[in-house]
Amino acid sequence: MHDASPKTWSGRFSEPVAELVKRYTASVSFDKRLAEFDIQGSLAHAQMLNKVGVLSDDDLTAITNGMSKILAAIREGSFEWLLDLEDVHMNIEKRLTDLIGDAGKRLHTGRSRNDQVATDIRLWLRHEIDALIHLAGELQRSLLDLAEKHADTVMPGFTHLQVAQPITFGHHLMAYVEMLARDVERLQDTRKRVNRLPLGAAALAGTSYPIDREFVMRQLGFDAVCENSLDAVSDRDFAIEFTAAAALVMTHLSRLSEELVLWMNPRFGFIDMADRYCTGSSIMPQKKNPDVPELVRGKTGRVTGHLVALLTLMKAQPLAYNKDNQEDKEPLFDTVDTLSATLRVVADMMRGVVVKPEAMRRAVKQGYATATDLADYLVKKGLPFRDAHEAVALAVRYAGEQRKDLEDLSLVELGTFSPLISAEVFEVLTPEGSLASRNHIGGTAPNQVRAAIARARNRLEEA
Ligand code: ARG
Repeated sequence: MHDASPKTWSGRFSEPVAELVKRYTASVSFDKRLAEFDIQGSLAHAQMLNKVGVLSDDDLTAITNGMSKILAAIREGSFEWLLDLEDVHMNIEKRLTDLIGDAGKRLHTGRSRNDQVATDIRLWLRHEIDALIHLAGELQRSLLDLAEKHADTVMPGFTHLQVAQPITFGHHLMAYVEMLARDVERLQDTRKRVNRLPLGAAALAGTSYPIDREFVMRQLGFDAVCENSLDAVSDRDFAIEFTAAAALVMTHLSRLSEELVLWMNPRFGFIDMADRYCTGSSIMPQKKNPDVPELVRGKTGRVTGHLVALLTLMKAQPLAYNKDNQEDKEPLFDTVDTLSATLRVVADMMRGVVVKPEAMRRAVKQGYATATDLADYLVKKGLPFRDAHEAVALAVRYAGEQRKDLEDLSLVELGTFSPLISAEVFEVLTPEGSLASRNHIGGTAPNQVRAAIARARNRLEEA
């Protein structure tokens, strides 16, 4: 990028902008990413100006042709972006004027960069949200495939990271499918507020030209127009909402990642991860490190940081447009890039997870995971729950001393803790018995897990 002709707005200035200031205030190095949407917005604006009689047919034709040349140059990478022209809007407008002359200078009639940039970001973000929703669906499919294979695989469920009760690995994975389904709902909801048209607000107060905002709205596929011109140019709620939704997706993926890291540790040994998702150590030859889930955890902080950056950007900003708002783009762009790369990588990583059911079962057996089942058994035989809890606590203590699991105690041994215990107790003391008994919607019984998977698949089909 190098310097070119004087600034579009330089007429009233008596000395040129300092080099340092030029570099400090320019945004083209990053906002050129909005180029295609900027052109889309400009074409809709030009069509509207023509429709209301402000722009001639010849001018509209010239603008349309000029823009298609510019678009082609941008796509093939031959467009020359000039720092001197500050941002994506003025770079494109200047090039258009070079190509078609005065018609290019008429394009900006009844418009300001303030409503132009707000429109561009919304068009861009709408496009990206749709792509992210698709990627979140792909990740759900990847989790569903693994959950389906392991609808019966016993593992310990944890609370406080201590063995709590038996669950299936499929059930555990389905918790993440639920989180992602809510994430998609949030993105869809955010999209409604993204999909409103600021154009027509001009600098801040509207314009004296007889514009037709509804026409532009329809041309660009927006659902509504922003109702207040001041709000239209200064509102970045939609960017904050989106980043909040994205930070929450990342937070969910960071939890999954943390679990993968734990499960892969030999102390757990529940899974192994495909080599293509791990790295070695430059000093310790034995190492296989779960770098990818660790990075997902780390990148979560980055996206949460973008959310805080945007909230801070808007805090106490007076109406209407302020140059501060130019700082909305890099956090937004990086949020989209980080989230989209993360969704892709996690979806593929889950396909490379090797499950070790024996290790999971061993962990269930070591943690008295069916103690609650024994208590429930006694309650069903008439003992008040608190008494049952106490009897089982004593049984667990005794079994611990014997270095045995509950189901390995004899009927005589178990009988010393309650006279209500008889031979069929062993049905509830096995992990399978425990799983099968949690047979209601949302429960971990394998048939319920399979039903949940089927519902989730239907939800994805319908979307
Ligand atoms: N590059 C600016 C932005 O991203 C465009 C709008 C600038 N408007 C202005 N009056 N300086 O926000």
